[in-house]
Amino acid sequence: MKYSLLKIKNLKPVLPIIQGGMAVRVSTGKLAGTVAKYGGIGTIGASGMSQEEIKEEIFIAKKIAEGNGLVAVNMMVAAAEFTEMIHAIIEAKPDLIVCGAGFSKDVFHMAKAADIAFAPVVSSAKAAALGVKLGADMIIVEGKEAGGHLGTDRPMKEILKEVLDIVGGKIPVIGAGGVLHGSDICEVLKMGASGVQMATRFVMSEESNVHDNFKNYYLNHTAKDMAIFLSPVGYPGRAIMTKLLDSVESGKAGKFPCKYQCLKSCNHRFCIIEALQNAQKGNVDDGIVFTGERFPEIKSVLPVKTIIETLVKEMDAC
Ligand SMILES: Cc1cc2nc3c(=O)[nH]c(=O)nc-3n(C[C@H](O)[C@H](O)[C@H](O)COP(=O)(O)O)c2cc1C
Repeated sequence: MKYSLLKIKNLKPVLPIIQGGMAVRVSTGKLAGTVAKYGGIGTIGASGMSQEEIKEEIFIAKKIAEGNGLVAVNMMVAAAEFTEMIHAIIEAKPDLIVCGAGFSKDVFHMAKAADIAFAPVVSSAKAAALGVKLGADMIIVEGKEAGGHLGTDRPMKEILKEVLDIVGGKIPVIGAGGVLHGSDICEVLKMGASGVQMATRFVMSEESNVHDNFKNYYLNHTAKDMAIFLSPVGYPGRAIMTKLLDSVESGKAGKFPCKYQCLKSCNHRFCIIEALQNAQKGNVDDGIVFTGERFPEIKSVLPVKTIIETLVKEMDAC
């Protein structure tokens, strides 16, 4: 079966599957490029990278994609160097820019001026309507099932229905959060969405850029180990409990020296960039292990090729 439902401006990926951007350095050029190579849209998580690094990662992703697939970049609006990073991203010309964790009107104009497709990540119909008004090329609706920072406690499908009504088919709408199998994708498409965004399944790919300790942390924990905590960014975040998170939540963690000034506004509960870097490098005890709600259902680390082939087979079956 051919899956060409998704059309973003003049871009037509083979599959209606976006691998969601994941910071810090969880989804780099290797993962995004491989997803693109096999027909999806691969997204690099740019938050926490330098301007030179993100340009290099876009170059790597495009090379792996072999000119076939689409390469996107995700950047968090709450980052201190947001505007400078968007300029650097535009210079390296990805196919699509995605922004979450906040709302910036400027980025709509910057992407449009550079003729690069732009999609905000939203968690309400109100934000989706604003996105359409500002000229978004696509809307990504993220529900409470997602990993990373959360903008809502409502299920994705509930919000998706409202967003689809408001957007009225003007631009593609994507469902993100809790999509794991081809049957989930079919359900979201049947609702009227043009595609899905998936991240947790791709953390557990051979190509994701996290240490084996991070992947084993997913395999060795269950739903009861999951926590929603208030991130220094100011949003709730979904993660698996770690020693660091336990000490922060129980009020035992002391003050930390702010070395990075990485956020426009930080509540200083702990250093988010250091915690994400620690986990990515394998020091999970002192880290934050972001995850989506359905991580306990993933039982193995697989190559991206196998993950995508399995999703397509499952979609064919429904
Ligand atoms: C480890 C991890 C890191 C993430 N980092 C980001 C990020 O930097 N920016 C962002 O907009 N979303 C981020 N997300 C959210 C994903 O891009 C995606 O929308 C969401 O996780 C989809 O739900 P799923 O994980 O259930 O598939 C992250 C998710 C995970 C699991």
